[in-house]
Amino acid sequence: MSCSLNLRSISYKKGDKYILEDINFDLDHKEKIAIVGQNGVGKSTLLKIIAGLKIATNGEIEIFHNKIKYQNDFEKYRDEIGYLPQDVSSFFLCITVIEDIMFSLLTLGIKKEEAYKKSIEMLKRLDILYLENRVIYDLSGGEQKIVALAAILIKEPKILLLDEPTNALDKKSENLILDILNKIDKSMVIVSHDKIFIEKLASKVYNLENKSLTEIRLS
Ligand SMILES: Nc1ncnc2c1ncn2[C@@H]1O[C@H](COP(=O)(O)OP(=O)(O)O)[C@@H](O)[C@H]1O
Ligand SMILES: [Mg+2]
Repeated sequence: MSCSLNLRSISYKKGDKYILEDINFDLDHKEKIAIVGQNGVGKSTLLKIIAGLKIATNGEIEIFHNKIKYQNDFEKYRDEIGYLPQDVSSFFLCITVIEDIMFSLLTLGIKKEEAYKKSIEMLKRLDILYLENRVIYDLSGGEQKIVALAAILIKEPKILLLDEPTNALDKKSENLILDILNKIDKSMVIVSHDKIFIEKLASKVYNLENKSLTEIRLS
């Protein structure tokens, strides 16, 4: 089966201390895997390494079977990888929700009228049309998370890297996101501490503990 991502012996050192050691996994085409673990074990750090926002101290990453050697190598995959940070407060570039979601498409060269139409469709799909003209910085953390997800999904990336997609969401929004992510037929790495959410979404679950990953069964 073709792979979207391969991690080989990834380590990451902060100061003189290793946060991650000898991390290995393969993400198959359209596979959904989850990474769970206690606070502070390095889940977000690992996802940032995969997204090209931090460079591993040792090890190798392949994206679509192409070896990534330097941070610049990630640039050609920017539009293929949709990264949702754990903290989305500095994710947004525009003032209102509709402007920000449209901006994602305008950067891809899509015309304004088409970008508006598609953005409205996405807002409807995520059940947040009522937020269309709201100022992003007035939204709750949970609302911001869904808007950020909309801005990512609209670019139709091939790989989704989602860091705690449901934290700060109420049950209704969480179920909606679960339903949407389940329907999306793409490769995904989902970081979460919510085992019930993960169980309903991922086909493989890894626990990050003592700097390394171990595959676990949840039920
Ligand atoms: N910007 C930073 N500066 C200093 N320490 C950091 C920074 N980001 C993360 N860390 C540390 O790295 C470790 C892993 O953090 P993180 O990847 O955020 O864990 P998790 O997402 O599993 O909660 C923690 O000990 C955290 O305190
Ligand atoms: Mg984290």
